[in-house]
Parts: sequence; structure tokens; C-alpha cells
Amino acid sequence: DIHEAIEQLLARLSLEEKVGQMCQCQASNFSFGSEVATDPPEKLIAEGRVGSVLGAFDITRVFELQKIAVEQSPHGIPLLFNADVIHGSQTVFPIPLAWSCSWDMEAIKEACAIAAKEASASGTVYNHGPMIDVARDARWGRVSEGAGEDPYLGSLIAKAQVEGYQGESLFNEETLIACLKHFIAYGAAEGGRDYNTVDISESTLRNVYLPPFQAALEAGAGSVMNAFNIYQGVPAAASTFLLKELLREELGFKGVLISDYGSVDEIRVHGHAKDTEEAALKAVQATMDIEMVTRSYDALPGLVREGKLAERQIDEAVRRILYLKYKTGLMDDPFRYIRPEKEMEWHFSEAHLQASLELARKSIVLLKNDGVLPLAKEARKVALIGPFADSKDLLGPWQFSRYGHETVTLYEGLMGKGIGEERILFAPGSKVNEPLDGGIEAAVEQAREAEIVILALGESSDMSGEAASRMDIVVPEPQQRLAEAIAAVGKPTVLVLTNGRPLALSWFEQHMDAIVETWFLGSQAGHAIADVLTGDYNPSGKLTMSFPARIGQVPVYYNHFNTGRPLTETNKNQKYISKYLDGPNEPLYPFGFGLSYTSFAYSDAKLDRSLMSAGETVAASVKVTNTGAIAGEEIVQLYIQDCHGSIVRPVKELKGFCKVFLAPGESRRVAFEITAEELTFWTPDTGYTAEPGQFKVYIGSSSRDVQEVDSLELVKESENERGSW
Ligand code: IFM
Repeated sequence: DIHEAIEQLLARLSLEEKVGQMCQCQASNFSFGSEVATDPPEKLIAEGRVGSVLGAFDITRVFELQKIAVEQSPHGIPLLFNADVIHGSQTVFPIPLAWSCSWDMEAIKEACAIAAKEASASGTVYNHGPMIDVARDARWGRVSEGAGEDPYLGSLIAKAQVEGYQGESLFNEETLIACLKHFIAYGAAEGGRDYNTVDISESTLRNVYLPPFQAALEAGAGSVMNAFNIYQGVPAAASTFLLKELLREELGFKGVLISDYGSVDEIRVHGHAKDTEEAALKAVQATMDIEMVTRSYDALPGLVREGKLAERQIDEAVRRILYLKYKTGLMDDPFRYIRPEKEMEWHFSEAHLQASLELARKSIVLLKNDGVLPLAKEARKVALIGPFADSKDLLGPWQFSRYGHETVTLYEGLMGKGIGEERILFAPGSKVNEPLDGGIEAAVEQAREAEIVILALGESSDMSGEAASRMDIVVPEPQQRLAEAIAAVGKPTVLVLTNGRPLALSWFEQHMDAIVETWFLGSQAGHAIADVLTGDYNPSGKLTMSFPARIGQVPVYYNHFNTGRPLTETNKNQKYISKYLDGPNEPLYPFGFGLSYTSFAYSDAKLDRSLMSAGETVAASVKVTNTGAIAGEEIVQLYIQDCHGSIVRPVKELKGFCKVFLAPGESRRVAFEITAEELTFWTPDTGYTAEPGQFKVYIGSSSRDVQEVDSLELVKESENERGSW
């Protein structure tokens, strides 16, 4: 049995060899931070000084290094190969923020399963994903990698991703070990600046940032990565509260904890350890098993010999690492993930591209449409303008695909629709962050010739992701100038946005006739966008992160608290109210918002009872009708407000949703179950609890556009006789 085998192996390892399993090197010289001089990977591996390798994307390199480990290292223990597979491997899927807008768990799970197949065929075993940080500040570049601002939706997506990557069993060589990152509260970095300070209460930690981790742990994730930030003054990498007490003891996590890149030594830089040795000591004491790209763990044998660290703690870490090596079958067959024939079969295959295309379509969010979309079939001339009009920079951050050159551009997508060269007037107009000589003039000329303008603007891939925070989350200045010049031409204009985060779009909302949010959609981006523009696909995506009306509102999110002086329609002219003097409180486009080419009406919303006690279920339902002329899909959303509690509760929290596809004129009753679980939250005094009292239940098409169904009372068991209708 595995545990017995681990004990036998452990007994044969020297202290240095045990620590070797906890250390990692890179396959190449790439660095995410300051360079640290180390021996080459070949030497580290041959001497048994590392147990895993980061970033070996190439199958030949994986084979080479694994061979050294097996044939030359003292005990021949195979290596784990780690990589960031965030939204696809060779076939690139939409960025996670985009795919979250599909609200489609099956499609997201399938994307992750495909990514796992493609990456594992090249030797990757251990994924540095999914990134499941709740994020409320769009300045933070890493919002592109997550599922937005909501803990409930984020939890379902986290679970779907783990299930997709890990499949039924890690022993299956088509899967990857999922690593949940970043534990925890990384999304709360002050000012949206990456790696910055976090200072939040324990109730915010548990009620907002923790739920996706709980859900993903329940789904059986094999690994967790720490966050770069501090929590209550202690760097997460050194926090015994976060890692040992909360993650391991309370949540029962038995898998491997890996540090983020450099974050063990950064315990010292944060000012929580006097030197690298002490940083390493604190990390191990907090139960950190692997130091990603080791800079500090070399000090561990010395710390044990000096009596500062118990060897037992090293043993525990090594047991967990070896367990993963056994679980994935590597111990018996170190080369089982190296499958060139599967690379041939799967990489960028037709079936995978089709799945990417389908998810890309579902990820698009229509933010505005005055009726110019879908493009009229008979439209004579379309001016396609902007730096993203014919750009392949549509994959987004965290991409290592060898097929980047085959990314379908918007221009190619439109050509594929039979809108041939003779109908498309093309002009880039501007570069992404710099003006293009004569670009605006040429673009204006094309716009004058055309009947309709498609303006393809946005951010380049490197403007989101890690270390890519922005202060001015707007369309970059040179593109704004281009947009103003095009708007002045006065032709119907559609803005097609490529970007990795919510942007402040108020000017565009005023001056564009339609706005299509396409994020970074991956390998098939151009086809997916063309499908939506031409109406071959009716968009159904809904935002998972609020778009600010003005940057000064950020962080702006729908599930905020009421405050003691909330702004209302009736008090908006009073002074001593929680509001801005120079703009609205409300975001421009709220969480849950997204349009369709058809329209939906909500009617007859009801609860089947008004009282419930802990073990009971209440059904909330609504009739949804497609009132437009074409078929379409609507994401019907259920929100609940806990009206008063022992600690204050958000004005609204998503607690259910349902995607319904309706033919024109078709109606369907959509029902949701409410149980005490949906009403539960954490308080410092009572822990997790659903407190008896009043709740408001809302159903609608976005967090803003809802109708109150009725109010619901959670009662103690004995009071419930008067409950049912
Ligand atoms: O996995 C990432 C992490 O999310 C941020 N720092 C670098 C790591 C590289 O693998």
C-alpha cells in the first residue's frame, strides 16, 4: 500500500535527500523575480537536490530531466513537472474571467479537462491552477485569471475547474493535479496593486474570500499555493493561522502546499524574519511543503541539525509530496505522462478547437445595443478599425501555446462569414499604447466610406495577469483619441473590446451604438466574435465583475454592505449621505448584467412558503418568457438579502442561477431551492450559522435588474407550525 511504501522510502532517505523533495528548480533560466544563482537543473536533479521542476513545457525537456532523476539521483525518485495551465495548453480557451461570464459549469469543466489532456501529454503533472481568488478591484491585473467578484459563483466555478483538471482519479495520466491559488485574500491587495498589503477582517476573509477554496477542497484538490500578501500582519507563507490551523486543521487539507515564487524568502522582505533561514523555518512550521524555485529551503538541514526544526516536520512534508508521486503513478512509471502520440492526437485538435469556440461564444457579453447588432446581412461596407481589428493578441496572459500564430483574428473571423475583402475597409488606426503615424486620418477616411464601423480596441495581453496592475483602467489614451475621431464621423459604431479586466467605459456608453465585451477569447476568438456580430450566435454571457462608471468608484461590487446612510432615490440631494459629490455610486454595468438579441420578461415570481426552519427547503420560482423575435438563452439569477444579523450582511448575495434557452414566445417557470445553507455565514461569535429572522428574496436578470419575490422568515423549529401555506 502507498503509505507503507512511503514509510520504507522515507527511512532510506538522508536529511538532505528529504529536503531535496521539498525543493524545486526551473527547467529554464526564466525568472519571475530577481535572479538567484543556482546550479543548473541537470546537476540539482542528479544530486537529488530537487523533487520537482517548474515550467518544462517541452516534452523532450521533460524526458531529459526525468531520465536524469530516475537514472542518476541517489534513490531514483521521479520528478513532478509543474506548470501554469490557466486557460488551456496548446488549444487556448478564453481567459478565466471571460469563461466565468458563461456561467456554464459543464463547459468550464470540459475546458479544464481538455487543458489537462493536452498539458499532461507533454509531461506536465502538476498544474499551478485554478486561480480562485475573489477579486473586487479591477485595477488588479490578476482579475483576468479568476471568476470575478462573487463567492457563490466563484465556488461553483472553482469546483468545476478542479473536477475538470483532476478528473475522476489522479492516477489517470490524462489529468493534472489541481493547485488552488492563492491562499488567501490575494484579491484584496490594497489599491489593486499586485503583491500589495491586505488588511481585512476575519469575517470578510471567511464570508468573501474563503468559499471558493472550501468548494474546491471538497472537490478534492491535491494542492494549494499560498498568496503573496500578509494577513493580520503575517505573510501568508508563514502564517500558521492560515496554513496550519485554517487550511489543514479546520478544512482538513491533506495535500501538498507549495509556496508561490519567491514568497518564502519574501517573509524576510516583508519584515517578518531576520534572514532567509528564519524565513524557511517559519514556512515549514506553517506546513509549507515545497518551496517553488528554491531560494531558502537549502537551509533546512542546518536548521534541523541546530535543533531549531524537528525532523518530524520535514518528514510530514516529504510524506505528502511522495504521496502525490505515488497517486499520479509516477513512482511506478516515471515516464507515463510523456506521450508524443497523444500530443499528436490532441494538441490543437479539431475537437478541442470546437470546444474552445463554443466556450468563447458563451463568454462574450453584450453590454449595449441600440439595434445596430446583429449586422444587417445586406450591409454594404464595414469599416474594421483599431489595433485589435486584425491582431493575434487575443490569447491573454499565461499562454505558452505553440499555435499562437494560428489564432483567428477578428478580420479573419469576418472573412469566414463571407463578408469578403470587398466589403471590409480595414485600418488599424492606432497601436495599443502608442499613436500610429497617420493612423487616425486613414481610419477616419475608411469610416466615411462605410455604412457601419466596428472599432476593435482594448488592452494587450501583458496589460493583465501577474504584475500588471493599472491605475487608469480605461481604453489606452491613443485608442481613445482614435475612438473620438471615429465617433465624430457619425456612422453607426460598434465597439468590440479585447481586455483582461473591467474598464471604465462611460464615454463609450454615450458615444457607441453597441458594445461587445470579448475579453481574451483564445485560439478561436475571431470566429466567436464574428458569430456574435453577425447574429449566428445570440450572446448570453453575463458579467461576473462590475464595470465602474468612473475609476474613483473602484473597488465597486454588487454585494456591498448597506452603510448607515445609504443613497436612495429620495435622499439623493441630501448632503450627509454615503455618496460621491461628482458621480454615481452605481457601477456602469453591474455584476450579472449582459444583453441578448432577444428580450426576456419576468413575471409571477413567488415563494412556496414564507416561513422555514433549518432542515426545510423553500422553492422560489418565476416565469420567464422570451418576448423577442429570436431564440435565446437567459441566465436567471436568485439573490437573497439577510435583513439584519449579529454582523451586518450584504445588500444582496447571489444564491442561485439557471440558464434557460427559450424559443420566441416560449415561457418557462424557473425554480430555485432555498435551504439554510444559502442563509449561512460566519460570525466571530458563533462561527458558521444561519440566524433566524427576515430575508428578502429577489429574482432577476442581473444584480441590478431584480424583482423582490417576497420575504422569507427563518424560524427556530418550534415556531414553524404557522409556516406553510
Ligand atoms: O503560479 C504562479 C503564481 O500564480 C504567481 N507567481 C508565479 C507562479 C509561477 O508558476
